[in-house]
Amino acid sequence: MARKIAAGNWKMNGLKADLAEIDSLAAAIADIESRPEVLICPPFTLLPLMHERAAGTGIAVGGQDCHPEPSGAHTGDIAAEMLADAGASHVILGHSERRSDHAEDDALVAAKARAAWRAELVAIICVGESEAERDAGRTLEVIGRQLAGSVPQGARPENTVIAYEPVWAIGTGRTPTTAEIAEVHAFMRERLVAAHGAAAADIPLLYGGSVKPGNAAEIFAVADVDGGLVGGASLRAADFVPIVAALAAS
Ligand code: PGA
Repeated sequence: MARKIAAGNWKMNGLKADLAEIDSLAAAIADIESRPEVLICPPFTLLPLMHERAAGTGIAVGGQDCHPEPSGAHTGDIAAEMLADAGASHVILGHSERRSDHAEDDALVAAKARAAWRAELVAIICVGESEAERDAGRTLEVIGRQLAGSVPQGARPENTVIAYEPVWAIGTGRTPTTAEIAEVHAFMRERLVAAHGAAAADIPLLYGGSVKPGNAAEIFAVADVDGGLVGGASLRAADFVPIVAALAAS
C-alpha cells in the first residue's frame, strides 16, 4: 500500500504574516488519527521560515520547482541542494503552470527529478491533460507520454510521488468524475510498474485540481488515489484541515 499524502501548493501566494496558518494547521491536525503525511510547498521566500515554524509538528515543507544543476550562473533559479538546505524534504516538478509559463518539457522535468534525488528530496512529478486533449479522447496517451518522459529510471516509493492534475481542473472548481480519476490512476499505477518494476506499485499517486473540503472525501475514496495536491484550498488552515481529515478517514 502506498502511503497517504496531503500536499499543499501555495504557488505564488503567501507573505510572512501567512505563516500563522501553519500554527493553526498544526494545532488542528495534531489529534487526527492515522494522520497522513502533511506537506506544504510555500514560495521560496517562506521556505526556511516555514521549516522553522513547523519544527516538531510533523508538517513537512517543500519547494515548487528546482534547477537541474547544483549551482552556477542561472539567475533567478533555485538548486535542489538549496531547497534541502532551507529545510525542504520534497519538491513539486513539472506542474502544468511551469510547463505552460516556462515551456518546461518532459526531458527538463526528468532532469529536475534527478536533481531532486541528488539532493535527497522526494520529487512530486505532475502530469495532466489539457481540456482539448481530454475532449479528443487522448487523455491516457498524454499521461503515458508524460510519465515515460518525466519520470527517470530509479523512481521508487521513497523518492517519487506522482500527481495527476488535469490542466482544466486546476483552479477552475471543475473536477473529473470519480470514474475518470479512477481510470487515469489505475493506468498510472500500471505504467509505473511496467517501467520501474513491482516496487513502483507503492509510489503514492495524488490527485490535484480543485480539491476542496466539499469533494475531498469522494475523491480520496477512489481506488489508487493516495492523496491530494491542493492549491487554493491549502492556503487557509480552515480549508486544508478538513481535507487532511478526509484523507485520514479514507
Ligand atoms: P487548485 O490547484 O487546488 O487550486 O485547483 C491545484 C494545483 O495546481 O496543484
